[in-house]
Amino acid sequence: MIAVGADHAGYEYKEKIKELLKTMKIEFQDFGTSSTESADYPDFAHKVAEFVASGKAEYGILICGTGIGMSITANKHKGIRASNVESIEAAKLARAHNNANILAIGARLTPWKTVEEIIKVFLSTKFEGGRHQKRVEKIHSLTNL
Ligand code: RB5
Repeated sequence: MIAVGADHAGYEYKEKIKELLKTMKIEFQDFGTSSTESADYPDFAHKVAEFVASGKAEYGILICGTGIGMSITANKHKGIRASNVESIEAAKLARAHNNANILAIGARLTPWKTVEEIIKVFLSTKFEGGRHQKRVEKIHSLTNL
């Protein structure tokens, strides 16, 4: 299960991402927004982050203009590791090294073709564990989030 959310700037990409997930036969839940009318990104980031943190979704995908507001907000939730990703390599490393559980995308900064690849790579890359395990644990143990 993937939780998806966007503000007005990310709405169109969110709709395309839902189509992509359907073709990949991956279940998703849409937390809004539902149009290009102006909306506040924290409203959607909080809902998606809560859903992922509760274990109801394995991953979240959040889209705003830059991905920045979404990732800052999502990272305020306990157990969330949101990564604002603009390249395919960063998508791979966010999973392999950081065990990221939320992908934040900037619709105004990243072309759709790249976003498609970012999502495919993010969802198919496993956390490497090993030396990265204790580093990821330290993120949470030292911040209590
Ligand atoms: C909305 O104009 C824009 O500020 C928002 O989508 C996002 O980029 C914030 O981080």
